[in-house]
Amino acid sequence: MAHEDSLAFLQRVPLLASLSEEQLHTLAASTVRRNFSKGKTIVAEGDPSQAMFILLSGRAKVQRSDTEGKEVILAVIGPGEFFGEMSLVDDEPRSASVITLESCDFLAISKEPFTEMMVRSTDVCLAVMRGLVGRLREADRKIETLALLDVYGRVARVLLDFSEEIDGEKIVRTKLPRQEIAKMIGASREMVSRVMKGLEIDGYIVPLDKGRLALRDKIRGYLH
Ligand code: CMP
Repeated sequence: MAHEDSLAFLQRVPLLASLSEEQLHTLAASTVRRNFSKGKTIVAEGDPSQAMFILLSGRAKVQRSDTEGKEVILAVIGPGEFFGEMSLVDDEPRSASVITLESCDFLAISKEPFTEMMVRSTDVCLAVMRGLVGRLREADRKIETLALLDVYGRVARVLLDFSEEIDGEKIVRTKLPRQEIAKMIGASREMVSRVMKGLEIDGYIVPLDKGRLALRDKIRGYLH
């Protein structure tokens, strides 16, 4: 990608908002823009790390798996969010895999310019810390969900997390395959299918066109 294009992208990334134009120019020179189609691994759990990434468009899942290949989805990342910074900070292997859920455009910043950027700018350090703290809060919430809610509550929590307020209604617009929900809440796909059917029959969720779902307010009752 041309240097000017990289620069234009970098200027729009919240993480880098505090950098001067000169710093952004330097960074743009060492930044690579990539596109991966759906289902591709950007970062593999256990690998050594050379770069961190900023997602420009598309969604990707952060996933861990055990030796038997069982998988758990820790998070879904969207545009403007960064990933791959943990192993650059602590020099440990990659903590998880990051796999595209749809076509994704992203920027790769290699280790040296990333470290330099952190050293030079307190604002960038703070932005990275804010991102990490946000994830810790989210992880705390997930632990609570897994420890305290039954499977109906866990499914309800995922649906609410992925919903948006549209014309006063809570709508899940993104297609959420049962298998992916199952990997987020530590349940089987069959169990998730049963729960979704139950929620539909009892009027907690209403299927709309194009795989979208409307959530009724009473679904919150499952969170207590
Ligand atoms: P790293 O360990 O370098 O590679 C995997 C990346 O996944 C990690 O950096 C983080 O950027 C990201 N990651 C790991 N755990 C979580 C989580 N719980 N929520 C969101 N992102 C995560």
